[in-house]
Amino acid sequence: VLIARHRMRSSGRWARAMAILREFEEKCGTPIAKLRQVADAMTVEMHAGLASEGGSKLKMIISYVDNLPTGDEKGLFYALDLGGTNFRVLRVQLGGKDKRVVKQEFEEVSIPPHLMVGSSDALFDYIAAALAKFVATEGEGLHVSPGRQRELGFTFSFPVRQSSISSGSLIKWTKGFSIEDAVGQDVVGELTKAMERIGLDMRVSALVNDTIGTLAGGRYYDQDVVAAVILGTGTNAAYVERAQSIPKWHGLLPKSGDMVINMEWGNFRSSHLPLTEYDQVLDAESLNPGEQIFEKIISGMYLGDIVRRVLCRMAEEADLFGDTVPPKLKIPFILRTPDMSAMHHDTSPDLRVVGSKLKDILDIPNTSLKTRKVVIELCDIVATRGARLSAAGILGILKKLGRDTMKEGDKQNSVIALDGGLYEHYTEFRTCLESTLKELLGAEVSDNIVIKHSNDGSGIGAALLAASHSQYLEEDS
Ligand code: GLC
Repeated sequence: VLIARHRMRSSGRWARAMAILREFEEKCGTPIAKLRQVADAMTVEMHAGLASEGGSKLKMIISYVDNLPTGDEKGLFYALDLGGTNFRVLRVQLGGKDKRVVKQEFEEVSIPPHLMVGSSDALFDYIAAALAKFVATEGEGLHVSPGRQRELGFTFSFPVRQSSISSGSLIKWTKGFSIEDAVGQDVVGELTKAMERIGLDMRVSALVNDTIGTLAGGRYYDQDVVAAVILGTGTNAAYVERAQSIPKWHGLLPKSGDMVINMEWGNFRSSHLPLTEYDQVLDAESLNPGEQIFEKIISGMYLGDIVRRVLCRMAEEADLFGDTVPPKLKIPFILRTPDMSAMHHDTSPDLRVVGSKLKDILDIPNTSLKTRKVVIELCDIVATRGARLSAAGILGILKKLGRDTMKEGDKQNSVIALDGGLYEHYTEFRTCLESTLKELLGAEVSDNIVIKHSNDGSGIGAALLAASHSQYLEEDS
């Protein structure tokens, strides 16, 4: 009798766990019709953001980049890439049309977590010090001409209101950074002051978002690149707009007729987005409640935590992991997206990767195969929603560019440069994004749309833009 009762209890719990899973799956649904609505809403918001400052959740930031790299860029340039938990410093020797990137060196430095929520001076002092150390390793073959100031392209991957190609003030932090006294400040000013404090003589020639850097880096190798998308810790996109289609731009029309726009699409929001109660709580408990809603259901900083939240509910209400709720399951961000990805890709018959991740990260030993399968299904639901919504966002851009349909005799390729850890390392996410975009575009059009991985293009891109905005340009030509 006892055994029978136990079986009944446990089958009831299992049913409850499955009900939680199915309900979540349903709320996360992204049928094609819904994705089209999301894409249309994206296009509408793009128009609104271009029309007036503050006209939309999409900031549609004018980057002051009206010329993208051609290949002619020459000289030694530095780049600094800050935007996640690491930052990178680069030194690039550009050799012009035929030689291109002659030599490239870089170093990656991690940012101590306390600096992500400390003071502006502390963060920029730390960065300037690492940069100075890197500059000191400038070798014999690779150095700036005597008497010349070193020049830097600064990739700063947060929303910045640009006032020129080489200045701009921080609008707000995203992705877990929160340094109050930096908000509203000119980030180039902050960096320059820190460099002066340690006696590093360097001029910031270009301040760019990582999407802009990726677009520039992509264009350097492929003239068909029209947009760039980052899928990493955060998510965002940039694209080449016609300057005359930007009502809020009151400056001179650039010679090229183009202006690159940083969309800040992470802040996109629409009633068509499939949001669940888990997303709502994640948002409410975040450092930036009410902001970056698109980012919070798509990007690497959050996907693992959404999975954790659903697992936690299943543990609390359906005893998924036994009679007690594993305490670690309650710790925000303990389950990282790379771990989620590793579990999702587990193809071993006994799902041993899932088993060991649950054990090592969450202290949950001895999970059954059935339970492990549930975990994988959960990862799949969360990753699929993010990947399909990213594809819808890309469709939104293509629509704005009028490149989502075939025109008579049109054989022109549109290349979209993609980068970021989520895209690069999360295979299921990447393949789902790519197949969804194909599905959305249809076979004929999708032949002309190419998604290209632009590996660490944002650093090179910033160096290229520093080169094309160099203070020595006139002298050289
Ligand atoms: C966040 C930032 C944005 C950046 C993106 C990808 O959304 O606000 O500026 O481009 O992350 O790094």
